Formats: sequence, structure tokens, C-alpha cells
Amino acid sequence: MNRIYLDHAATTPIHPSVKEKMREVMEESFGNPSSIHHFGRESRKRLDEARMTMANSINANYESMIFTSGGTEANNLAIFGLAYANRKKGNHIITTQIEHHAVLHPCEQLEREGFDVTYLPVDENGMVDIMDVKKALRKDTIFATIMFVNNETGMKQPIHMIGNLLRSKGIPFHTDAVQAYGVEEIDVEELKIDLLTASSHKIYGPKGVGFLYKRDGINIAQRLFGGEQERTWRSGTENTLAIEGFKKAVEVLNDERQQRVDHYEKLSHQLIHSLNEKGVQYEVNGKLDSEHKVPNILNLSFPGMDVEIFLTNLDLSGVAVSSGSACTAGSIDPSHVLKAMYGEDSPKLRNSIRFSFGMDNSVEEMEQVADRIEMIVNRLSSNV
Ligand SMILES: Cc1ncc(COP(=O)(O)O)c(C=O)c1O
Repeated sequence: MNRIYLDHAATTPIHPSVKEKMREVMEESFGNPSSIHHFGRESRKRLDEARMTMANSINANYESMIFTSGGTEANNLAIFGLAYANRKKGNHIITTQIEHHAVLHPCEQLEREGFDVTYLPVDENGMVDIMDVKKALRKDTIFATIMFVNNETGMKQPIHMIGNLLRSKGIPFHTDAVQAYGVEEIDVEELKIDLLTASSHKIYGPKGVGFLYKRDGINIAQRLFGGEQERTWRSGTENTLAIEGFKKAVEVLNDERQQRVDHYEKLSHQLIHSLNEKGVQYEVNGKLDSEHKVPNILNLSFPGMDVEIFLTNLDLSGVAVSSGSACTAGSIDPSHVLKAMYGEDSPKLRNSIRFSFGMDNSVEEMEQVADRIEMIVNRLSSNV
């Protein structure tokens, strides 16, 4: 059976050039970048170059980049860091109901500590309304954290408008751009983003590394105390090997981004086309157009299906996809994102699947996936 991996929003394989680079680094370099001798200086030079590559990728200042262990740590650093640094100024935080748990759970923790958090709703397409952001602003609002692209639906939020609004009010704006970084051109100056999270393993780099961009002048409280690496914002010897891998992944991304986007669009269109041809019943969760959605994520609802049984059957047929929602102790929690879009009674919460495409997927594979979906839907429907 040929296995087809369509879960690239969960993680991507490591790109061959990244593997090659990491092998080379393992052979050639091991110094601690904080050491002042030759070995340390060599490692520091590599780290500085990686920092420059990352900064350039979002039009940021070199000194604004903080390497972290990934998206989760970067989000936590931004959210707790901003909250604790601004405690005297105010108590109110704005976020949305559709954030990744790496944002929602820190916000919930801050609520337990006495902060007041507004969770903005979304419309049935999974979009935040700029007017809701405006209405939520208060005198004691200390920052807003609103994701760039949703990881379940692929829907792009109105980041430019939000950035402009918050900058005009002097309120720091953090965005979790983990799912945007591999497909969108991001310019933090133009978009007026003050803090931004990215993660390596979503863009064909190694796991366990990411960065937080923090604009100069934005104050965050230190969370890790120790050797004062990353200009004190993130103590701990930098994961130089993973950072080199991440750097390579960004270089390849810079060269290939448009090609990737075009390819994902083709794959998505083919899957939709093949499902239509076979008459499989489905509905798109969110919108399909490229203005509102990234092309590598497609969330479909299959009326009458049960997501757990559907996912298991797809896996048995060799198709690896995800429900987009969390698996806890072997069972699947209904998605908080779809709940925000459709309400908690919607059957879509229990019959939706996230397909996320990658560079290794082919158009022919999309036809095969549609075949397998058709077979499973017919079999499961006739069992009802
Ligand atoms: C939107 C979003 N934010 C944050 C994360 C967490 O990133 P990491 O796995 O690097 O901790 C993910 C990963 O699924 C994500 O999709």
C-alpha cells in the first residue's frame, strides 16, 4: 500500500538540503557560542548568520530575534512576558476563540492569575472581525495576541488591519504565525506586528526550534533565568544544530515559496475536483479563495461520518490526515475552532477532517485519496 501523508500542518518531513546541512554541522562545529575561544567564536558566527537569515525573512532587525525551542515556547514567552511586564499598566488581554492551545492555555493560566482575557468570536468562515477587535479595546488593555493563519481551517486573519489599529492605540500586538510562515510573505514593519512566533518543523526544518520576533522597545518580562543567552530573553545554550537546520529550511523556503504555494493550490483543486467527480458529499469549513485561505490546509466536513471512525479507516487505507483537533487519551475532543465557527451543536464538530498538503504530494495522490474517501464513505454509510 502506498501511504499518503496529508498532515503537514502537524509537522513536515526534514528537507534533504536541511539534513545535509545538519550532518555537515555535526561533523564540523560543536563550540558553545558563548565561549570566547576559537571554537566558541566559530559557533557564534554561525548563530549570528542564522539570526540574520531569520530576521531578513520577516524584514526584522537582527537584534529582535529570540531563538526558542519552538512555537509553543515562543508563544508562552510573548504572552506571559507581555502580561508580567505590563501588569502595572493594566489587566486586560485580547485574543480569539480560535487560537492554538499554545496561546489559549497561557491565556487561561493568566485568567487564573487575575488577568481579564477577552476571547473574540469568529464568523462562520472562521474570520475575526476588525470591528470586534475595536470594540474589545479598553483603557486597561495591555496587549493583543491574534493568530495569522488558523491551523485547522487555514483561514488568514486580517492581520494588517489589526496591526494598524493596535499600533495607532499604542497596544503591543503579538501574532502566532506558525502556520503562515511557510506560505505567506511576512513583513513585520508593513503589517505593524510587534511580536511574532514561527516554528521550524512546519517548514521542513527540524523539530524543537523556533523564534520569537520582538520589536525593539517592546518590553517583556524574562521567563528563564540562567546564562543570559539571547540578550537575556531566553537563557540556555542555544540549540545550534537545530538552528542551523532551521536556517537552511528558511533559505530553501525563500527560494521555493511561490513554487510551493502553486503546488499546494494544484493539490487542493485536484482533491476538490476528484471528490466532486465522484459525487462525494462534503462541505468546506471556511472559504476556498486564496485571498482568505492558505492553499496547503483544507478542512472538509463529511455529513453523516463520525470523525474517529473516518480517521481510523483513512489510516487503514494508507491516508494520514487529522481532525485538526486535539486527541486526548485516545479519543478526539470536538474542535474548539469549529465550535467557534458553527456552535457546539453543529454535526461538523464531529465529521470534519483537515487535509494539509506538502511538496512531496502529487496530483495523482489526490485522485487516489478521493478514491479511498469515496470507498470509505460508501462503506460507512451503508453500515448505518
Ligand atoms: C498555530 C500553531 N501555533 C503553535 C504551534 C506549536 O508549535 P511547536 O510545535 O513548534 O511548539 C502549532 C503547532 O501545531 C501551531 O499550529
